[in-house]
This record gives sequence, C-alpha cells and structure tokens, in this order.
Amino acid sequence: MSFARYKKKIEEGDTIILYLGYENMHAVTMKRGQTFQTKYGAMRHADVIGKDYGSKVQCPKGYLYVLQPTPELWTQNLPHRTQILYSTDISVVTMQLDLKPGSVVVESGTGSGSLSHSIIRSIAPTGHLHTFEFHQQRAEKAEEEFVEHGLKEYVTVTHRDVCQDGFGLENVADAVFLDLPRPWEAMASAKTAIKVTGGRLCSFSPCIEQVQKSSDFLRDLGFEEVTTMECLLRNFDVRTINLPLADLGPTERPSKDDLSQNTDKEEDTEQTDSPVKKLKSANSHSTPQRENKNVPQSFDIIGRKENDSFFFKTGVTPNQMPGHTGFLTFATLFPS
Ligand SMILES: C[S@@+](CC[C@H](N)C(=O)[O-])C[C@H]1O[C@@H](n2cnc3c(N)ncnc32)[C@H](O)[C@@H]1O
Repeated sequence: MSFARYKKKIEEGDTIILYLGYENMHAVTMKRGQTFQTKYGAMRHADVIGKDYGSKVQCPKGYLYVLQPTPELWTQNLPHRTQILYSTDISVVTMQLDLKPGSVVVESGTGSGSLSHSIIRSIAPTGHLHTFEFHQQRAEKAEEEFVEHGLKEYVTVTHRDVCQDGFGLENVADAVFLDLPRPWEAMASAKTAIKVTGGRLCSFSPCIEQVQKSSDFLRDLGFEEVTTMECLLRNFDVRTINLPLADLGPTERPSKDDLSQNTDKEEDTEQTDSPVKKLKSANSHSTPQRENKNVPQSFDIIGRKENDSFFFKTGVTPNQMPGHTGFLTFATLFPS
C-alpha cells in the first residue's frame, strides 16, 4: 500500500486522503458500495477506485482531490486516541535520532501511532520499529492500522507497561524514543535495548521539571551529550501592505508620470538608478502599516495610488500562534 511506497492507481482497501482544502482533509479507506459525505455532496468510493492518485474528482456541488497518504497527511488526519506528536517535532526527532533505512527503533508509548508512521517511513525497507503501549485497545488499534496501511512487516506492537516490565530487548536498537509520563522509569531498560556499539535516545516531555529529572537520570546511566530542544512552528500569512511614499524633497521626488511608466517594468529598471528604485530603498526601513482592504487587483506585486502611497506583498506573522507542545531531550550512548 502507498504508506510504504508510492503507487499510481487507487485500489480497494487503500487509505487515501480526500483533499477539499488545507483545513478540510479526510483519511478514508476505500470500500466498494460505500459513500463519503463531503461539503460538496456524496462521493462514491466506486467512482474513486481505479483513478490515479492526485486526480480531481467531481462531486455533485464541487470537486476534491484524492491524494497519496503520507505520514505527514496521516498525522493531520488520523483519529486521535491520545495526544500526538506533530510534524514539526517529528522532523527534529527523525534528524536527531539519525533515522535512516535499516535503523532499528524502540518506541513507547505508541499512542495514536502518529510518530510511528514517520519512523517506519524513515527506516523502511530494511529497518524495524518495536513499539510498546500499555493500553490494550490502543495497542490493538495501532496494530490494526499498521496492517491496513501495509506496514506490518516493519513494526512489532507489544502490549506492555515498559516502566514496570521493561522493553525485554537487548543490544538491538539504534535509537529509543520515549513519550511517557514518567520516562525515567524506562530509561535503564532503554539503555539495555541500545546496541553495544552505541545509539541515541529521545524523551518528549511537556514540562521542564520532567526534562530536568530525565536529564539527571540519563547522565547517571552514562548517557552523554544530553541536550534539550524546543521546536516552534512560525506561520507567515501573505498580506498586502500599504506604505506612504517618503517625502524626499522637491528635487528627489519623481513625478506621477515617472511612477506610472515604471509600474509595469519593475524588473527591467532595477539596475538603473530609477525613481522607483530610489523610492523603494527609501521606504525599505519603514514600519508596515495596517493592511489596506482596497488594494486594486492590478497592483498585485507593487503598486501606487494617487495619494502617494504604495503597496507590496509580504509575510506577516499572526498576533497569536499556538506554540509549546513539548521539550525534546536527546542523549547519546557511546560504545561500551
Ligand atoms: C502521548 S501518547 C503517545 C503519542 C504518540 N507519540 C503519537 O505520536 O501518537 C502516550 C502513550 O503512552 C502510553 N503509556 C503511558 N505509560 C506507559 C507505560 N508505562 N508503558 C507503555 N505505554 C505507556 C499511554 O497509554 C499513551 O497511549
């Protein structure tokens, strides 16, 4: 199935992503005879089976796209059974644990399997993930999903309390990932699971007190390079900004004719000492003002208005951004 490798055609049993918009996606498993209700009306699975991934599908009142599932799209659309790791943190974990095809990874808890899908993509086709979960239904559901997504050969799900009973693995893992309320209780067993040639460990904790305790335990166990990171996502919205032209005095100011002649030839006039270039550089340190709602459509890159102001497109951060998810503490175990 396409979680493990890309393929061209949608088949019955595939989990696909229906894309109606960036904030309107659904993960749906294709079964003939079933329909899926969207805001554009009903979509019959039978109309989608056999189509190429990436196709546009017409519904009664609009269209959608049918996409290959990737770990990132799965993370955005999976059924939440627990808190999950998102792609921002996952990307740091993957890089810092040095995951690659052939890596053997131990993970606990499995939770909703968000991180597990990304780990599997990184270590396939020759690596293996051992994932541990002490909540029986979650362990069973995760295993079911791995089978449904064609990933069974890359992962072993074990229902176990790793803090009490350990991982039961010795000298197998290149990396261990812990997302547990009391991660230090599983650290000694994690150390045993890591290969004698050494490996990396990561522990995800939402609060700094857990980080401090985990770091102390890791150092006591002989881990080195103990480092904590927090990775925050910053969004930029594209906005049109209106700035007043600088009044540079009568000799410096271009006439309105100068401005209108140069509006359509921005790129060409950049090398010359044009009035437009002078104005742009004079304004480059100004503070952006409120977004202007009445921007003429023709001024889509940079434009001018009669009252000697001009418009440009830029990236603006929203006033509030969801920030902290957790701290990622990494450590290295060198060859014993
Ligand atoms: C926050 S969730 C993990 C989410 C996961 N990283 C993801 O991205 O979907 C934490 C999971 O750890 C499990 N857990 C907590 N203590 C455990 C233990 N001692 N042994 C095994 N699993 C445990 C919980 O049942 C829960 O499902």
